Amino acid sequence: MLSDKNILLVIAGGIAAYKSLDLIRRLRDRGAGVRCVLTDSGAQFVTPLSVSALASEEVYRDLFSLTDESKMGHIRLSREADLIVVAPATANLMAKMAAGLADDLASTVLLATNKPVLLAPAMNVHMWEHPATRRNLAQLHGDGIASVGPEIGELADGEYGAGRMAEPATIVTAIEAHFAGFPADAAAPPRPLRGVRALVTSGPTHEALDPVRYLSNRSSGKQGHAIAAALAAAGAETILVAGPTALADPADVTTVHAESAREMEAACLEALPVDVAVCAAAVADWRPADTAPGKIKKDGAPPPIDLVENPDILAGLAADTEQRSALVVGFAAETGNVLEHARRKLERKRCDWILANDVSAASGVIGGDSNTVHLITADDTDSWPALSKAEVASRLVARIADHFGALEKTAAPVRSDA
Ligand code: CTP
Repeated sequence: MLSDKNILLVIAGGIAAYKSLDLIRRLRDRGAGVRCVLTDSGAQFVTPLSVSALASEEVYRDLFSLTDESKMGHIRLSREADLIVVAPATANLMAKMAAGLADDLASTVLLATNKPVLLAPAMNVHMWEHPATRRNLAQLHGDGIASVGPEIGELADGEYGAGRMAEPATIVTAIEAHFAGFPADAAAPPRPLRGVRALVTSGPTHEALDPVRYLSNRSSGKQGHAIAAALAAAGAETILVAGPTALADPADVTTVHAESAREMEAACLEALPVDVAVCAAAVADWRPADTAPGKIKKDGAPPPIDLVENPDILAGLAADTEQRSALVVGFAAETGNVLEHARRKLERKRCDWILANDVSAASGVIGGDSNTVHLITADDTDSWPALSKAEVASRLVARIADHFGALEKTAAPVRSDA
């Protein structure tokens, strides 16, 4: 509970500002007093009226407002709080804080305060990864400022990676931890898969009929890319072999682009040895027996297409060879009898785990943002609720981390030279 605590919430300009409204509600529910400073760009995303209605306090906006200053000078504003929370903390505001700039009410309050500060950064993945932001964050941590998040997931601009503001519940937990004497420390995020080398396949493959036509499927690659990003965030050295997708390469992942099943297989073999392989790609099972060197012309009857089978990449990686990974995970995309087909697939392909999902048209999984999966192992089936593909990735990575943690304890061969 936060009943005797006063929190000054600085809301800067980012799409995540809408989550700050929920944060205010949660803090008030716990009995905290919440006073808010809204920057000009923050006010582009949430209205002063909704902020003040939720906080039951007026919103402070303007450094040079006589009314604001006479009622509550910025020095008082910055000193009367027990904790200042900046959510969302934009790259711009973090840069100003790191440089000690004070050119609006938010940055002035943050410079004038003698109270602890907690940041909840939110920005595009490339801004988050930019050396300038890394430098600023390191400086801010060095100045004793704590931070929570950001999380990995789909970002407002359609890209994937780290940059999503921590969920309000997570920020509340960090605030409670702060008051309990355990400050959040994003400078040392848990990296349970450090030293582990991971391979992920993702997306569809294109099997050429001629230079302009191909056979393929509707896979978007969202799930595989999410898994690669989550593995990398957990500290794994991650190689993503991506079929043709519209997605950006995830941050901190070595991405190899492959067009056909055979190219994808070659890229996977090239990546070996790895400790864990996750095959999320929707590899085309067949390819045209011949690829015409020139565009097939539409003269006469439609040409017959002879198909030949593609290599099964998952079965190859799971085969009992010297290079077999300690953990091989597959997917089973099914449109009926999901568990039964998936278990048979696990046995047939000899992988260790299989994530089974219903990909029938009604499920909306293919191309969509959520997924309902069952994690099937040799002796267990764990059914997860409907989750975003990012959450499925996080859960899977948590299970992988547990698995390697358990292996380490029994001294099994986890690569330590990676
Ligand atoms: N897979 C693979 N290479 C292939 C086909 C599938 O690596 N040529 C992998 C997928 O990445 C997935 C798993 O095998 O992890 C199951 O794919 P799925 O399409 O569900 O199964 P299929 O083997 O194609 O079997 P079926 O078409 O009978 O469902």
